[in-house]
Amino acid sequence: MKRIDTSDMSWDDWDAQVRPEPEVTDFDRVVETAMTRRAVLGSLVALGSGAAVMGTAMLKGTTAHAYGQSDFPFEPIPAFTDNTIHVPEGYTWRPVARWGDKLFSDAPEFDNGHGAEGSDRIFGENTDGMELYRVGDAEVIAVNHEYVNPALNIPERETPTEEDVMTLMNLQGVTVMEVARGEEGYDVVVDSPLNRRIHHNTPMRISGPAAGHALLQTSADPSGTEVLGTLNNCGSGRTLWGTYLTCEENFNGYFGSTDAELELPEGFARYGIQHDSRYAYELYHPRYDIAQEPNEAHRFGYIVEIDPADPESQPVKRTALGRFKHENAAMTLAEDGRVVVYMGDDERGEFMYKYVSNGTYVEGGPTDGLLDDGTLYAASFNEDGTGSWLALTPDTTAMDTAMICIHTRQAASSVGATTMDRPEWVAVSTTLPEAYCCLTNNSRRAEGFTNAGGDLAEPAPGTPNPRGENRYGQIVRWRPEGGDHGADAFTWDLYVMAGNPVVGLGSYAGSDNVTEGNMFNSPDGMQVDSNGLIWIQTDGDDSNEGPYSGMGNNQMLVGHPETGEIARFLTGPSGSEVTGLTWNSDRTVAFVGIQHPGGTWPDGGDSLPRSSVIAVWREDGAAIG
Ligand code: FEO
Ligand code: CA
Ligand code: CA
Repeated sequence: MKRIDTSDMSWDDWDAQVRPEPEVTDFDRVVETAMTRRAVLGSLVALGSGAAVMGTAMLKGTTAHAYGQSDFPFEPIPAFTDNTIHVPEGYTWRPVARWGDKLFSDAPEFDNGHGAEGSDRIFGENTDGMELYRVGDAEVIAVNHEYVNPALNIPERETPTEEDVMTLMNLQGVTVMEVARGEEGYDVVVDSPLNRRIHHNTPMRISGPAAGHALLQTSADPSGTEVLGTLNNCGSGRTLWGTYLTCEENFNGYFGSTDAELELPEGFARYGIQHDSRYAYELYHPRYDIAQEPNEAHRFGYIVEIDPADPESQPVKRTALGRFKHENAAMTLAEDGRVVVYMGDDERGEFMYKYVSNGTYVEGGPTDGLLDDGTLYAASFNEDGTGSWLALTPDTTAMDTAMICIHTRQAASSVGATTMDRPEWVAVSTTLPEAYCCLTNNSRRAEGFTNAGGDLAEPAPGTPNPRGENRYGQIVRWRPEGGDHGADAFTWDLYVMAGNPVVGLGSYAGSDNVTEGNMFNSPDGMQVDSNGLIWIQTDGDDSNEGPYSGMGNNQMLVGHPETGEIARFLTGPSGSEVTGLTWNSDRTVAFVGIQHPGGTWPDGGDSLPRSSVIAVWREDGAAIG
């Protein structure tokens, strides 16, 4: 009997459990060497060129703020462990859209065991990345539904039925929904012609260098250019031309094999595609059975572009942006007008990427080719605070362009990119020539081991890592040479090394901008607001015990890019992860995502927990981002 996983563990945790990863990364080694060197030289040495302004987060005595002493226009809040949301005094929050809420008035009242009918006409589960768009006079949010918790959505039984599987497929993907100011906060505009659900069976087009490649051809689609659905939609991005980017992360776990003896095709191991799936799709859908349709898995792991202004438009998978466990996408422009997209591959020992288009962006001009024709780069970090983007080309990788876009991880390994501690969200500053990436944690690292790239790498010699278990994570910041995001060279430092200054020793105490009043672990979601402030969301251990004592529930904090000050702004309900952030048109309301809450949040009583998007605003109506 095929069982499905009905635990409520997050997808990242599930993936880590079924597929243990290499333990220590190159980036850990680079950072620890840099930190050791800094300790030797004294704490006022910042890394790299531009040291006068870089590294403020690491400077002793410049950034330490006790709880309550904030430079921000709000009073930072303490940690909480209860089953609700807290925001600073003078601010209010309210749910906007909860799992199961109707997008159309003919949708069913949805709850556990309802069945598949109408499950594609309601707000899906486990909200993640989101972006708000102005469409005419309307405001529209595009928002991801990363995964489902089967225990909340289908009856418990030995083997899921075909209808069970369809229900799960419908409750994931993307929602596009019009929102409008209500009596209090914002509401979904039910039946808006702009409302749309995109799920695991929505037709989409495959574009870019891998489109039509033999590895993307299946019996249902011999052309290799048309695919159904987008999987495990994690973080988001927005283009300069008003479209939404949804990022396929742990797509591997949806594929399984009805043949337990099947020898895995080439490249599957590197992406974690194996015989066991999480939701048993392969029982009813041959395309998810790698024994029948091995190429279907090559059609996922991409970034998908969606036009939120046109509900009839077909989403497009942009293979030029590479195939890996995409977290999010942060778009900006090079000085010469080429489009730059920064991206992270969220897995222990994988890489950070940059895409640069060949064409240039002209406002109002054609944009279709800008995400189809360009070059991928992977990041290489040096211990002296410098780094470079290594181009992934046929010359550097001995792979053709289509294969670079399909087996991107292998291409990045071949050029010697730096293996990282799970790159989550990337964000580009709106006020400074710099960008940031959350490196969330590496919970199972063992001291004394290093690796040189992904799960195929041989352990490489390296220094023992003083942070033997990177349970807290860090945020790396880089500044492109000449302030031009099109440049190959950059300098880097750590904006923050998360830690616990109360119970942590040495580097476990965190960098100097981590205090008893703001400590957190596992930075994950991130956005930079219109003032250049860095909003940091966490997805970590909320036990509030041992090394995590004093950190409380997962939370959202605000960081200043220059002073390094970090202040806690919001705490989520117990059990939840805070992920996804966008603002309304006049920036007076922030929309925040709450994923996998515990208990009965937000409805209370004997209700099921409902992952939700909430609105947060200042009671005096001032802008907040
Ligand atoms: Fe979906 Fe890496 O978070
Ligand atoms: Ca995440
Ligand atoms: Ca995470």
